[in-house]
Amino acid sequence: MRAVLYDRYGPPSVLRIGARPDPKPGPGEVLVQVRAASVNPIDFKVRRGDFQLLSGRRFPRTTGSDFSGEVVALGTGVTGLAIGQRVMGVQDSLAASGGSFAELMTVKMHRVVPTPAILAHVDAAALPLAGLSAYQALMRLGRMTRGAAVLIIGASGGVGHLAVQIAKIEGAHVTAVASTRNLAFVESLKPDVLIDYSVTDLRALTDRYDVIFDAVTAWSLKALARQLQPNGTYVSTLPGPSAFLDAWLGGLRGLGRQQVLIMKADNGDLEKVAGYAAAGFLRPHVERVYDLAHAADAHASAETGRTVGKLVVTVP
Ligand SMILES: NC(=O)c1ccc[n+]([C@@H]2O[C@H](COP(=O)([O-])OP(=O)(O)OC[C@H]3O[C@@H](n4cnc5c(N)ncnc54)[C@H](OP(=O)(O)O)[C@@H]3O)[C@@H](O)[C@H]2O)c1
Repeated sequence: MRAVLYDRYGPPSVLRIGARPDPKPGPGEVLVQVRAASVNPIDFKVRRGDFQLLSGRRFPRTTGSDFSGEVVALGTGVTGLAIGQRVMGVQDSLAASGGSFAELMTVKMHRVVPTPAILAHVDAAALPLAGLSAYQALMRLGRMTRGAAVLIIGASGGVGHLAVQIAKIEGAHVTAVASTRNLAFVESLKPDVLIDYSVTDLRALTDRYDVIFDAVTAWSLKALARQLQPNGTYVSTLPGPSAFLDAWLGGLRGLGRQQVLIMKADNGDLEKVAGYAAAGFLRPHVERVYDLAHAADAHASAETGRTVGKLVVTVP
């Protein structure tokens, strides 16, 4: 089978299409014929070598976390899925093999759910990692309740545009933050309030929020402590020593509760996200579709940090 591979950590140009043996599903694994895969920042960060201590030095590596496709074979012990079924999910982004930019991939069954019939593969591939991140940030870490006031920073991005929609579905009062060029797109997601960060300094806002979800970690709890309700939660997306230190210091100084997202691939949460889509409430926005041969261009574009919604690669 053909897959997008790389033989060393580096820029997008290290990506190449190569041949790999067809994978076979082990116990508890699903073999998927991939139809579409999307790019997430973790994919290019791993490719650059940002997480070498975790990702190791085994090459060639594959790339790609999110996928939508069809079940080709089931390993022993897999239940609830059938051969031929349309499925979507998220691969372990740090694994050296099994990336979704490939014709075939094996993936653990707890990382897979049926693809809602309403979604084409291109749209479904845009949903799992960013949708799980948005859902877990708001509902699990943020403990968002109906009627909560929520500020979403990075509302035009992969995670943020799904977070705006999920927060609305769950009955929050949503204030979305984007730049001038993306205001029209974010307005189409129907937030209650829209703020242009190119003209408004968020530190000057007089409203207070129950949840501040900083999907792009543009700010910090310290900077926006006055915008957080006393019992509110500030959720950021970039784990690391400084984030956890900030969370601890913020607690000590009484600034508020800070949580740092580490997305967990959980098919219970992914079914919830898929359910929003199946009901027609949640719709991923795909800014651009690339074919597998142009995977490096998709990585390079995502790496600019200016993506509106998601970038998707199709697999013929
Ligand atoms: N820890 C975890 O488990 C986890 C899970 C998912 C994602 N993440 C991380 O979360 C971050 C976001 O992921 P993503 O997929 O949403 O990225 P993305 O799609 O690349 O985000 C790009 C978007 O962010 C917007 N943006 C950039 N700076 C901004 C700012 N200062 N204020 C408001 N919007 C801003 C950009 O809009 P403009 O061009 O208008 O600025 C663009 O639309 C990444 O760093 C990713 O690695 C972490």
